[in-house]
Amino acid sequence: MGFLDEIKRRRTFGIISHPDAGKTTLTEKLLLFGGAIQEAGAVKSNKIKKTATSDFMEIERQRGISVATSVLAFIYRDKKINILDTPGHKDFAEDTFRTLTAVDSVIVVIDVAKGVEEQTEKLVEVCRMRNIPMIVFINKLDREGKDAFDLLDEVEQKLGLQVTPLSLPIGMGYDFKGIYNIWERNVQLFDGEQKQTIGEKAHFESLDDPQLEDAIGAQALETLKEELELIDGVYPKFDREAYLKGALQPVLFGSALNNFGVQELLNCFIEIAPEPLSKASEERLIEPHEDKFSGFVFKIHANMDPNHRDRLAFIKVVSGTFQRNSPYLHVRLNKKLKFSSPNTFFAERKEIVDTSYPGDIVGLHDTGNFKIGDTLTAGEQLHFRGIPSFSPEHFRYINNNDPMKAKQLAKGIDQLMDEGVAQLFTLNLNGRKVIGTVGALQFEVIQYRLLHEYGAKCTYENLNVHKACWIEGDEKSDAFKEFRRIKQKFLAQDKSGQLVFLADSAFSLQMAQDQYKKLQFHFTSEF
Ligand code: G4P
Repeated sequence: MGFLDEIKRRRTFGIISHPDAGKTTLTEKLLLFGGAIQEAGAVKSNKIKKTATSDFMEIERQRGISVATSVLAFIYRDKKINILDTPGHKDFAEDTFRTLTAVDSVIVVIDVAKGVEEQTEKLVEVCRMRNIPMIVFINKLDREGKDAFDLLDEVEQKLGLQVTPLSLPIGMGYDFKGIYNIWERNVQLFDGEQKQTIGEKAHFESLDDPQLEDAIGAQALETLKEELELIDGVYPKFDREAYLKGALQPVLFGSALNNFGVQELLNCFIEIAPEPLSKASEERLIEPHEDKFSGFVFKIHANMDPNHRDRLAFIKVVSGTFQRNSPYLHVRLNKKLKFSSPNTFFAERKEIVDTSYPGDIVGLHDTGNFKIGDTLTAGEQLHFRGIPSFSPEHFRYINNNDPMKAKQLAKGIDQLMDEGVAQLFTLNLNGRKVIGTVGALQFEVIQYRLLHEYGAKCTYENLNVHKACWIEGDEKSDAFKEFRRIKQKFLAQDKSGQLVFLADSAFSLQMAQDQYKKLQFHFTSEF
């Protein structure tokens, strides 16, 4: 198969949802259809169970699983599908945001009874800002839930999307009979006997099939026809261009647990979802079909085995092919590196791969060269954009608790920050180190990992910071100098030396923004 055909057959995407909406179940069912696994229950859930005795122990256990589920690849109807795992837990939202820089499209899973939930809103907002094509899958139709039209309204209003249904449920919960597939213009009926298996279901080529009325009853058929008319009148027709631009989101209904609507989702997905997209770098737009390799690191997984300092850097191939044993330029370090055992991911297995194509994810063993956002190329000076650090929301001073282990502590903190676990700030006034995280759980994770992986003990001390923001302005201006002087106590540097304002309250942040209008206050590190 030629290079261009290899690109065309790839679909790299993420599934996003609020925890418990059914992301893991759907992923597993997609793998089953792809023949990548043989039975349900094979994909271990990497979510943090509510029953966990101790959150951070649970996180450690999950870290082991999540390397296996980071990329789940399979072939379906000759398409190479790469599913990138996105943690649902809100304390790890930043991981998910970063992974979203490596996907070409997403599937949003919504629970029919709960509707649009908080985490879905946040994640969809990020996708909307980046115009990532989205398909919405409304799950758990076997349960009593909200009315389909109410849900479509809710999705439009809460998520700010323009939807168009591509399927419509016939009944719901106890009365759930099946689905009219607007996309394929046929009806599939739910066969209660065959829950849990991918079995045959009653299938009708059209609404006019006389046996359909016998199967679902005149009343349900009438309602279905009315609803379809309503859809015709109210929602825009599906338009692939609009979907690809992120301006229109198709919605499908189903039940992942019962394999209902899943294959229809997959069939629709492979037909409409984009092949690997071009990506902006600071220098220029990079097209996947360019012959020279380029890619970027969106995730680092470190120290799975405490006896070996092993780190796996996950690279998304943007253009050209990545070849084993070829020298590539690590742009930030201006250093050529060769990789003798790059990994590819297939279902839950890792394998050494000779050639990877745009859209693929390659796992590179790393001894500390990479950090998130790094660019690797065939020689060109490129810097990919779009992996910002977000303003953390929890802050603590970090102190060394064992003077003999200062070096280990510094190294451990450094590496954990490269992995993107948290952000480190150094106060301008006294050089004290402050850790900022998106979720409170990370503090436990850091303390635990520093001890177990680096033999370093740390303690924390509370610090009253409301939000960190990156400051930009003309350093020579009076306003900038005054800001530096007056706010001295609240200023710090991030790891790359950028100036950060650690505002102690929403009020003082607002005051500073009002007072220093010539300065820009950014809430992500990339501006
Ligand atoms: P997540 O990854 O989005 O967090 O969700 P996950 O797939 O783990 O699903 C959350 C719960 O919802 C699971 O039940 C799962 O079995 C159930 N579920 C998923 N899809 C459907 C569906 O279509 N219908 C119904 N009725 N339930 C569904 P659990 O009891 O929390 O976990 P488990 O013990 O079954 O693993």
